[in-house]
Amino acid sequence: MTSFSTRAIHAGQEPDPTTGAVIPPLYQSTTYAQDGIGGLRNGYEYGRGTNPTRDSLQQQLAALEGGKHAFSFSSGLAAEDALIRGLLAPGDHIVLGNDAYGGTYRLINKVLGKWGITNTAVDMSDAAALAAAIAAGNTKMVWLETPSNPMMKISDIAAAAQAAHDAGALLVVDNTFASPYLQQPLALGADVVVHSTTKYIGGHSDAVGGAVILNDDAAAEEVGFIQFAVGAVSAPMEAWLTTRGLKTLAVRMDRHSATAMTVAKWLREQPAVEQVLYPGLEEHPGHDLAKAQMKDFGGMVSVSFKGGEAAARKVAESTRLFLLAESLGGVESLMNYPSEMTHASVKGTELAVPENLLRLSVGLEDGEDLIADLDQALGQL
Ligand SMILES: Cc1ncc(COP(=O)(O)O)c(C=O)c1O
Repeated sequence: MTSFSTRAIHAGQEPDPTTGAVIPPLYQSTTYAQDGIGGLRNGYEYGRGTNPTRDSLQQQLAALEGGKHAFSFSSGLAAEDALIRGLLAPGDHIVLGNDAYGGTYRLINKVLGKWGITNTAVDMSDAAALAAAIAAGNTKMVWLETPSNPMMKISDIAAAAQAAHDAGALLVVDNTFASPYLQQPLALGADVVVHSTTKYIGGHSDAVGGAVILNDDAAAEEVGFIQFAVGAVSAPMEAWLTTRGLKTLAVRMDRHSATAMTVAKWLREQPAVEQVLYPGLEEHPGHDLAKAQMKDFGGMVSVSFKGGEAAARKVAESTRLFLLAESLGGVESLMNYPSEMTHASVKGTELAVPENLLRLSVGLEDGEDLIADLDQALGQL
C-alpha cells in the first residue's frame, strides 16, 4: 500500500477517461441518460443515489481511513444520523462521552431519543465508568471522540473497542479532531469512523460535509441504504471541494500541529491562564496515550482563564487574527467560546462546558503572528 500522502492525492482521482483532465471533473448533473430502459452507464441513474464526484471523494476517504467502504453526507450530523438509524433500532442503547460534541449529544438525546434510542454519557477516559455504563444497558454502540471537543480528553481507542466488543457492541470513533493523518481508529480496533469533513478534511472552511467509513459489508449496506433512502448526500460541489482539500491534509496537519504546540507552550506561561488543554504538553493527562495512538497532537488547543467567564469573553472578543467563529480545522485560525457557541445546546446538562474556557483552532498563519495576536488580546484583561 502506498503512503498516506500519495493515497490522498491519487485515490479515487483517475484522470478523466474522455479528456485526460488530471483533476476529475465536477459532475453537476442530477440525472444520467440511459441506453434503453434500465440501460445504465456504469450504474449511474440519479444524483441522490450516485454521483461520480461523490464516488471520488468516497474512494479517497476509504483509502485514507484504511476502510473498505466510505459514505459522504451533506454534514457531519447527517452522517451520524444515517449511521445510527442504519445500524440501530428502537430500544438500543448508546454509550457516549460526557464531553462529546454538543450537536452529537443533541442528535442522540433529543432527536433519536424520541424514536426509542437510549443513551448514557460517561467519562470515556475512565475505563471502569465505561464498562459500568455498557453493562447497565442494552448497549449496541459506543461513541468515542478523541481528542474530545472542546475538553481535549484522550481516550484509549483499542481499550474502548475491546470493552464494546466484549458486550457485542460496535465502537464508533469521531475522528474529526485528529483526522485520518494523525489517527487511524479502524487499525486500532474501531468498527466505524465518522467525520465532520467540514473541518480538517475539507480544511478551507468552504464546504460543509460528513462521512462514515467502515469495513463490515452488511453494515455498509445498511448505511448505504439510509444514505439513498433518506437522501442527505453531499452535493457535487461540496464533494469536489472536500476532495481538493483532502489532498493536502498531511502537510496541513503537520503545520497545524507544530504551530499549536508553540501556541500551547506560550499560553501556559501567561499569568492570566488557569490551564492549557493540549495533549502535546507533557503535563496533559492523556499525553502518553496520545503519543502512542496519534502521529502528532493536532491543531486544537483549549485554554481556561483565572479571571473566569469575563476574562474568557474579553479575550474571545479581542483577537484580530483569530476570528471569533464556530467550526475549526480551516487554514485560518478561529476562536470559539464553547459554552455560548458550539456547545450552547448542552448548557445546563452534564455535558456543559466550563464558562471560563476558550477553544482555539490554530490555523496555518505564521506562529509568531498568532502569538502576537493572543498577546495583545490577553493584554486587554
Ligand atoms: C467533533 C465533531 N463531530 C461532529 C460535528 C458535526 O459536524 P457538522 O457540523 O459538519 O454537521 C462537529 C461539528 O462541529 C464536530 O466538531
